[in-house]
Amino acid sequence: MERMMRSFFLFLSKNKFLTRLARRYGLRFGAARFVAGDTIEMAVRTIKDLNSKNLAVTLDYLGEFVDNEEEAKEKADQSIEAIKAISRHHLNSELSLKLTSMGLDISKEIVMYNMRRILEVASANGVFVTIDMEDFSRCEKTIEVFKELKKDYDNVGTVIQAYLYRTRDDIEELNKYAPNLRLVKGAYKESPDVAFPNKHDVDENFKSIIKMHLLNGNYTAIATHDDNIIEFTKQLVEEYEISNDQFEFQMLYGIRPERQLELMEEGYTMRVYVPYGKDWYGYFMRRLAERPANVAFVLKGILKK
Ligand code: FDA
Repeated sequence: MERMMRSFFLFLSKNKFLTRLARRYGLRFGAARFVAGDTIEMAVRTIKDLNSKNLAVTLDYLGEFVDNEEEAKEKADQSIEAIKAISRHHLNSELSLKLTSMGLDISKEIVMYNMRRILEVASANGVFVTIDMEDFSRCEKTIEVFKELKKDYDNVGTVIQAYLYRTRDDIEELNKYAPNLRLVKGAYKESPDVAFPNKHDVDENFKSIIKMHLLNGNYTAIATHDDNIIEFTKQLVEEYEISNDQFEFQMLYGIRPERQLELMEEGYTMRVYVPYGKDWYGYFMRRLAERPANVAFVLKGILKK
């Protein structure tokens, strides 16, 4: 049942018609629990609140299915605005973005042009930028873009997904670049030809890449709500005497907020991924796919109205 629901919501997340419809109607169906708002002003308010609780942030201007140059440029402009707002308000926040919204599906020139514009402004304002990882069909291209950018910019990192078979090789290969990586389980529906279908295998691979990347001496963001993985990381860093400034935990806005505070109080850097913008639909569907309890929460919200 859980697997069917997951497939259903991941299927919905790719629907371009619903994405466009949602864009027009604004945050609905309880999406506000996971998305900070439509505008940068609303996002800034949320970041200030999280920062006041000693939680760091990575801010994401939502965007998916960008298929023309103008729109990609507009998304890049919004990310630049977000960087300027982070700097203007002295926020403890980084930036996250998706390469498809910067024009990855249009051409390499466009995505590189937009990324360089963003990284120049981010560099000037001391803001770190993480390139999110999307579905498997974009994984190789994303890593290629990241490698090219990393040669010129220090303030860029990317994401590696534990559910892919190729992941250990990617960690090994990327080690040459001493990258700051966010490690996650992976949020898309992938074929068993490319990804572990079994949760246990994903978790084991997750642990193994956390260990590899930390022992390679690279900065590691462990992005998960899973206590088993968090506990594994705590024991690992203790065993190998890895200091707290070589890694951080990350969680999504609206998910396990009490746990976020606990980890911060234990002395770990805790960063919250805060999405905002009109393109909330695909992001929201992926959150529903992850956890049936999230669906129950949404249904309760709708029935209460
Ligand atoms: P999982 O969903 O397996 O949950 C494991 C356990 O965590 C549960 O059994 C439960 O104990 C606990 N838990 C989870 N949610 C809970 C809740 N709401 N309340 C209480 N307990 C809960 N993916 C991707 O493909 N590309 C990307 O770029 C990113 N980026 C990203 C950034 C950040 C900061 C995060 C946290 C995640 C991502 N992801 C991502 C998403 C990621 O791949 C994954 O889909 C989700 O984090 C869910 O997986 P978990 O590791 O949280 O464990």
